[in-house]
This record gives sequence, structure tokens and C-alpha cells, in this order.
Amino acid sequence: MSYNLLKGKRGIIFGALDENSIAWKTAERAHEEGAQIVLTNAPIAMRMGKINELAEKTGSEIIPADATSEEDLNNLIEKSMEILGGKLDFVLHSIGMSVNVRKGKHYTDQNYSFTEKGWDVSALSFHKVCQSLYKADAMNEWGSIVALTYMAAQRTFPDYNDMADNKAYLESIARSFGYFFGKDKKVRVNTISQSPTPTTAGKGVKGFDGFIAYADKMSPLGNATAAECADYTMTLFSDLTKKVTMQNLFHDGGFSNTGVSNEVIEKFEK
Ligand code: NAI
Repeated sequence: MSYNLLKGKRGIIFGALDENSIAWKTAERAHEEGAQIVLTNAPIAMRMGKINELAEKTGSEIIPADATSEEDLNNLIEKSMEILGGKLDFVLHSIGMSVNVRKGKHYTDQNYSFTEKGWDVSALSFHKVCQSLYKADAMNEWGSIVALTYMAAQRTFPDYNDMADNKAYLESIARSFGYFFGKDKKVRVNTISQSPTPTTAGKGVKGFDGFIAYADKMSPLGNATAAECADYTMTLFSDLTKKVTMQNLFHDGGFSNTGVSNEVIEKFEK
């Protein structure tokens, strides 16, 4: 169902790899809500993914950009404003990758060049995106920037590995940049902390099947899906949340405030 929440708004969506991606669902919803968008992803992901399909569906153009490259980001922002015909109203950062996880390196046995690469892609890239937007004065007043995160930033989930540290850093950037973006440009910056979701990045976490089933049983409303995350993001991109900024917003069916659920207790009763 569409509410025309983003009618006349323009934005950039990072990170749509395939139809499971949270960014894919968000691009579809933003289009339904009346927005004009530019899609972007790392050049390598474009070759592997299906972003062309999404571009066709949403009538949008694609501009490749490695989110760790300032040059790519500056080019993306400049071209997006040309294509969309003005400054931007929203940006979604939906990017994550740990080389240690990919290569099976345990948290206690990290290869630090892998750690640095994963941090650059998953965390520092959010600062780079914000800084490029800020310096180019590319955001309209009351615009909205959102990045996706996970609760391992606050609590330990052993197999989330160095992504936990990356997410803590990412959430801190939303607060720190949110201050300056708010003061200087009246732009809000938030993170959404999403339930485990079966995507390429999600399924890369060791033991994901058990992990997602456990989270579902621990959440009074059940896990939030990628489509539901896209719905929530629409509210943050819309004018209905103008004074929400510098927040980490849990979108997790209640998981983060649940100590234990009856379903989980039952598993331990003899
Ligand atoms: P996904 O695998 O569909 O998306 C990750 C995206 O990051 C891909 O499109 C990939 O190409 C992109 N990417 C990787 N390196 C890049 C680079 N150098 N430059 C630009 N883009 C790059 O997976 P998903 O789950 O949709 O991930 C989106 C976000 O949601 C990530 O930040 C992830 O950590 C977060 N998240 C995911 C959860 C899950 O369980 N799937 C739970 C909570 C948060």
C-alpha cells in the first residue's frame, strides 16, 4: 500500500545486490511512495548481482561506486543530483562485509588487514558518505540519512565476529555526524537496528539458521522482515519524523528488550 510519503523526494540507495537485500526492498518501497532514486553498489557487486532488474522496475539509473572511495562517492553524488534534477532528500547506507568472517578467521585470531578492510567497508564508509554529502551541500533541509546496523553493537553475539565492532563504530558516526548535519544543514542521521534477515550478508554469519530461529522465538512480535524494514525506513525518509535524529532505532519485534521468552524457557524445561 502506498501513502505517497515520498512524493517529489529524491534519494540514493546503496547496497541492493539481489531481491533479498534490504536495500532492494527499500528501493521498491521508495519508488512506490513516489520517490525518484539513483541506485548504487560496488562495481564488483554489479557484475554479480541483479541491480539492472531493480533499476528497470523502479525507473532508476545506476551509478557504480565503491563506498570506501571518496572519489567514487563524490562522483556518485554529483551525478545523482544531475540525474534527479536537484539536491537529495534521503540516502540509505545498506553496506556490510567482514573479510575475517568470509575467510573463517575467529574473533580471537583476526588478520588485521582483513579487519581494516571490513571496518572501511562496513563502518568508515558511512562517515565517507556523510562527509561527501556534507561537503557537496547535497542534502535538502529536513533530509534524512539512514544506515543499517545490528544489536551486536550493544550485546555480544559470538559469531558476529568483528562486525560487532564495526556496527558500534557505525552507530557512533550517526550520533557524531548527526550533530553537525542537524546544526548546519537541518538534516537527520539515524541507524536502524534490524532483526536477523536472510540475505547474502546475513547468511554469511556462522550458525545463521539457529540464530534467526532463536531471535524469532525471543521476539514478542517475531523477527522483522526485510520488507518490514523497508516500510519503517519510509517513515524515516518521510516528513513525519523530522525531529528524529542521532538515534539507533531498534526494528526487531521487541527482541532487544526481552530478557527471555516462554518459548525459549520451554526448551530447557525437563
Ligand atoms: P546484502 O548482502 O544484500 O547487502 C550488503 C551490500 O553491501 C551488498 O549489496 C554489497 O554489494 C554491498 N557492499 C559491499 N562492499 C561494498 C563496497 N565496498 N561499496 C559499496 N557497497 C558494498 O545484505 P543485507 O542483509 O541486505 O545488508 C544490508 C545492511 O543491513 C548491512 O549493513 C548489514 O550489516 C545490515 N544488517 C543485516 C542484517 C541481516 O541479518 N541480514 C541484520 C541487521 C543489519
